[in-house]
Amino acid sequence: MAVTLPAELMWKATAQDLRKDLDLSNEEVCSLMELTEQVKAHPSRFARSLAGRYLSLLFEKPSLRTRLTFELAIKQLGGDAVVSTGPVAEREPLKDVARNLDRWTQGIVARVFQQETIDEMARWSSVPVINALSDLYHPCQALADVFTIREQFGETRGLKVTFVGDGNNVANSLMLTATRLGMDFTLGCPAGYEPRPEIVSDAMALAAVAGTHIEIVHDAAKAVAGAHAVYTDVWASMGQEREADQRRQNFLPFQVNEALMAKARPDAVFMHCLPAKRGQEVTDGVMESGQSVVFDQAENRLHAQKALLLMMLS
Ligand code: CP
Ligand code: NVA
Repeated sequence: MAVTLPAELMWKATAQDLRKDLDLSNEEVCSLMELTEQVKAHPSRFARSLAGRYLSLLFEKPSLRTRLTFELAIKQLGGDAVVSTGPVAEREPLKDVARNLDRWTQGIVARVFQQETIDEMARWSSVPVINALSDLYHPCQALADVFTIREQFGETRGLKVTFVGDGNNVANSLMLTATRLGMDFTLGCPAGYEPRPEIVSDAMALAAVAGTHIEIVHDAAKAVAGAHAVYTDVWASMGQEREADQRRQNFLPFQVNEALMAKARPDAVFMHCLPAKRGQEVTDGVMESGQSVVFDQAENRLHAQKALLLMMLS
């Protein structure tokens, strides 16, 4: 099917799936930024680009933003989606599920507990599989986040983004995506809550190529010094509810509050993937402050995912 992309934005997508951030090349991430800008500025130009294309949306965990923005994205591009909630492979093997969905729809978007579920689905599916959050990655969130930073500062190179809190899925994807767009990345987390060493190694390799700097510190004030963007997320992710009490104690010195924001650059923005637990990882004051761009991030989920679908399904 012909896709009505402007000529300057046509490129050959090499990514078959988006299982994790590293499935996208640096060039694809840069092209996605350009395409997101176009899609956001001129939505009507893309209104029929994916006519006749359908997505399977699978959600093992709750979602507001990801589910609704994928549904809206495909519909606003002329296609449609079907949704299934609950465990992906409870009644039959995952490899059978994948080979049903790929007969009916042109792409699979899945939010799962374990990264292995995404990887296995991609192994068996003949259509693109997009990770809509797993225990290790949230690549769609990261694309919207770096686009939001680019929008706020007009560029990404030379900026410092600091994630304060858990070295979780959102932190991993932000680290992997921000660094390749020329940003320095600092994680401020309690000892014992760092990302997996192999993910840090991947990010370090990208940073070496991009000429950027990655650091992990255990002091929130040190982490935010000089930051253009201060990012946080919940202390206990979905699936970690039983650890929530212990985590609340361990993460207390890592709350993003007005005093911590004052230690970042005066023009720093505050970011959160949402949903936020006000009074825990962030205060209500910071969420509602003029520095907060959390709703721009949420809006940009829609635009960034449209660009991603155009790239992967066209
Ligand atoms: N940020 C995000 O992924 O939100 P949902 O969990 O509501 O999809
Ligand atoms: N880290 C959070 C992100 C939610 C969007 C979680 O996995 O629950």
